[in-house]
Amino acid sequence: MSEIIICKDINFKYNVNFVLKNINFSISQGDFIAFIGPNGGGKSTLAKILLGLLKPTSGSIIYPNVTLFSKNSLIGYTPQDTGINKDFPIQAFDVVLMGFLQKSRFGYKITKNDRLEALDIMQKLEIENLKYRAIGSLSGGQRQRVMIARALCGKPKLLIFDEPTSNIDMLTQKEIYKLLKQININHTIILISHDISNLSEYVNKVLFINNEIVDFDSFKNKLGIYGRFYEEINRKNKG
Ligand SMILES: Nc1ncnc2c1ncn2[C@@H]1O[C@H](COP(=O)(O)OP(=O)(O)OP(=O)(O)O)[C@@H](O)[C@H]1O
Ligand SMILES: [Mg+2]
Repeated sequence: MSEIIICKDINFKYNVNFVLKNINFSISQGDFIAFIGPNGGGKSTLAKILLGLLKPTSGSIIYPNVTLFSKNSLIGYTPQDTGINKDFPIQAFDVVLMGFLQKSRFGYKITKNDRLEALDIMQKLEIENLKYRAIGSLSGGQRQRVMIARALCGKPKLLIFDEPTSNIDMLTQKEIYKLLKQININHTIILISHDISNLSEYVNKVLFINNEIVDFDSFKNKLGIYGRFYEEINRKNKG
């Protein structure tokens, strides 16, 4: 698989203490990578660095094959905190369309084609019937699908989902993972999640992030369920 992003020696601090230290890893086209680890470990921070929302304190992000992916390529994103006020009277369709209005495209006006693309995505995610529903009236799982649809607008090559299944029941969680696996056929995915019980059958790589990337081979016996998760993925990739 071709590498599209290399994180080299990345360190990051918001103020005094380093939240991320010595981060080195690469993302290949077609990857489905899980970022896992404890609360406050720096997963969302690393996602924001990849998105260009935060700048590393030191280190660099390298795009080794700019025909496949560059600094300017669109990245789809569902934030951990959706940032959408549930009481705000906005329809699901309008939330999806917001996916076209990224920071990098200031002043962009949504076109007729964008609307058709958004509708097509909603159809594929089986939420077309929710189009005119107020966002606050949807269930958690339905709202997550709307957020995933929003991230898919504009056909981004890379998608970053920050905890898309938190507060979602096991069955819906599994449905969302299956949906992401489908999406993975055409998109590279980073998934941040604490719900690792069903995850190993979907992802091909895992990073355990606890301020630094924890080396599983030396720590697996100390990582409990995380260690087992890692072993499952290793076994799957070998077999
Ligand atoms: N805007 C900010 N200003 C200062 N410190 C921050 C800010 N955002 C996050 N932090 C701190 O950085 C550390 C890493 O936070 P981050 O949100 O990246 O962790 P996380 O791995 O995503 O955790 P969780 O699993 O709880 O979502 C935490 O100690 C957090 O308090
Ligand atoms: Mg987080």
